Amino acid sequence: MDYLIRPLDATDYDDLIALWDRSGLPYRPRGRDSRDAIANEVKRMETCFQGMFDGDKMIGAIIGTSDGRKGWINRLAIDPDYRGQRLAGLLIEECEKALREQGLKVIAALIEEENLPSIAAFKRAGYHYHSEIYYFSKRETDDD
Ligand SMILES: CC(C)(COP(=O)(O)OP(=O)(O)OC[C@H]1O[C@@H](n2cnc3c(N)ncnc32)[C@H](O)[C@@H]1OP(=O)(O)O)[C@@H](O)C(=O)NCCC(=O)NCCS
Repeated sequence: MDYLIRPLDATDYDDLIALWDRSGLPYRPRGRDSRDAIANEVKRMETCFQGMFDGDKMIGAIIGTSDGRKGWINRLAIDPDYRGQRLAGLLIEECEKALREQGLKVIAALIEEENLPSIAAFKRAGYHYHSEIYYFSKRETDDD
């Protein structure tokens, strides 16, 4: 079955949050995933916000970002009722297209080690696992 994939905008915020909640995806509602933060982020030309729809229902979403050197895939989620149909791969491809059009040659994603479904989806999409890399971050608050 083919599902519509289209860019998201600020008006899709509530549906996006509902999808993330259904999906069990951790996010930062008081930080970079707040309504205001997302409204600002969707306006950035280099950011790829895409949603997948079954009729009016948002069943998948992805955020592709660029830091100017690399593209990053973030917040990939597929509704639990639609998993196992390789839909994640379609959203990854869509984001890759948008990021490559900006001349980016490296696209990366951070995945928690116990997230086997996500690891499987990214491996199938051609991503390589780097066991030698540790993720370090510095945050202003725990909400960020
Ligand atoms: C990760 C995720 C986006 C994958 O979406 P998907 O469209 O189901 O991906 P795929 O169809 O390619 O399946 C990937 C893996 O999910 C697992 N899977 C398959 N059917 C499933 C189902 N019905 N329910 C749950 N997981 C299933 C399998 O491990 C599968 O790998 P395999 O085919 O090699 O066995 C989805 O599981 C999800 O939204 N998870 C919660 C949010 C999340 O963790 N996002 C990623 C953050 S890095």
